[in-house]
Amino acid sequence: MVNENGINPFLDPETAKTHLESYKSPDGLSIEDIMDLRSNGGLTYNDFLILPGYVGFPSSEVTFETKVTKNITLKTPFMSSPMDTVTEAEMAINMALLGGVGVIHNNCSPDEQAEMVLKVKRFENGFITDPVCLTPNHTVADVNRIKAQSGYSGIPITANGKLYSILLGIVTARDIQFHEDHTTPLKDVMTTDLVIAHEGVTLEEANQILRSSKRGKLPIVNARGELVSLLSRSDLLKNLNFPLASKSPHSKQLICAAAIGSRPDDKARLRKLVEAGLDIVVLDSSQGNSIFQIEMINYIRKTYGTSLDIIAGNVVTREQAASLIEAGADALRVGMGSGSICITQEIMAVGRPQGTAVYKVSQFANKFGIPVIADGGIQNIGHIIKALALGASAVMMGGLFAGTTESPGEYFYREGQRLKKYRGMGSIDAMERVGCKRTQPDNNAAARYFSERDVVKVAQGVAGAVVDKGSIRKFVPYLLTGLQHGLQDIGVKNLDQLREEVDSGKVRFELRTAAAQIEGNVHGLYSYEKRLF
Ligand code: IMP
Repeated sequence: MVNENGINPFLDPETAKTHLESYKSPDGLSIEDIMDLRSNGGLTYNDFLILPGYVGFPSSEVTFETKVTKNITLKTPFMSSPMDTVTEAEMAINMALLGGVGVIHNNCSPDEQAEMVLKVKRFENGFITDPVCLTPNHTVADVNRIKAQSGYSGIPITANGKLYSILLGIVTARDIQFHEDHTTPLKDVMTTDLVIAHEGVTLEEANQILRSSKRGKLPIVNARGELVSLLSRSDLLKNLNFPLASKSPHSKQLICAAAIGSRPDDKARLRKLVEAGLDIVVLDSSQGNSIFQIEMINYIRKTYGTSLDIIAGNVVTREQAASLIEAGADALRVGMGSGSICITQEIMAVGRPQGTAVYKVSQFANKFGIPVIADGGIQNIGHIIKALALGASAVMMGGLFAGTTESPGEYFYREGQRLKKYRGMGSIDAMERVGCKRTQPDNNAAARYFSERDVVKVAQGVAGAVVDKGSIRKFVPYLLTGLQHGLQDIGVKNLDQLREEVDSGKVRFELRTAAAQIEGNVHGLYSYEKRLF
């Protein structure tokens, strides 16, 4: 096609540029236009898409450094929910190793929660910080039983059979291999000629000692001769590097967060958590704009100064956000009724579509330098990208991390599927603590919904099951790589650039009709298998 000047406007870049510039605004809509409540109502992640930008760099150059509170920066924008089927010590350790942070739930006694925090803070990659120990009076039969149950073959022997007790010896498979009398006490078979290392030894040094000693296990002891951890030869090869790990700049320990409620007895719980080394406290409530939470923020500030970061919430409106920012929150958790296990909007008639909630609160909170955590409703990588584009600094996920190796609970099979339990903290199951192994005199799950004193419990969540997702050590890198590709498609290299270009109107958005949503999903196939990574 040639115009009257003999030029093909579609092939001549200068002419094409002039044509493009003749449009009053770029294609698509700005964030303000798409989030206009009067014309579009409340939106959530599936209601809109981000238009592609220009790809001028490889996806490996995309990075995700982000503030999760006013003072704490992470290398990945992921948090795991404080739920008793999502985050205990194992999840929190692995989340932190992978660059995020796990929030340890409080549907347990203060001592149990503090012990989990301690486990995270004491964790050192490569060192086993909770080895199974026995006393000299246990027998060969006890070692055999442990080996059969958990496969451990080198058992440290300490004075009282626990960690932080004087190390007396070690029993290895070799010590008991041909021992037929299973009632023999371990003091008669244990190896006492020990090769040990002292607390403070680096992983590299310890590995070197293990190699040259040719032993299977290397006990690490403190100045008092008490066992503090163990290094295993079989773990040597598994000692991967975690370059993104979330660590406190001073102590180099993993960053740990935990949830509490806002009742008076939560103050004593918090004291124990702080003594265990807590970095971030999450005030866990479905409706955070309350006198209880504001008083709790004041109390924490007065008692702990700025040494403890406070994530307050949950909120979904500017006004709720303003209250908590004024009270002194270091970050806000946003979401009400968007969680996969949640029935709050249905039962309480209160809540907000998550896209709008994240946008409205972020737009306000970011003016004060207060990061927003988009909590709930994240079903896939696309939702994470949209939450970040709407202004969130990080996303919190429950359902997506439930069913992983690191989430609490046992796997079970139903109709050939390997599943794990996942339940809302406002489900009757969680409020009545069905199947809880942990002790708890009072009910914190119910307190999240201000209903611990109710005679009749009104559920705001359901209990269900999710399929096995494998280890988060594979799942989180999958999420991260997907995010890199998403940001590359948008044409931004990091979250600061994403924020700037969304705010300036360079990154463009578009609504999706119901038909567009169907088109955007797999359609028209007789059958298919959805393998994600
Ligand atoms: P998900 O990632 O969509 O599964 O949502 C997890 C989030 O749902 C959590 O981080 C909580 O904010 C929220 N939540 C947890 N339990 C309940 C509940 O029982 N009812 C409503 N919301 C819940």
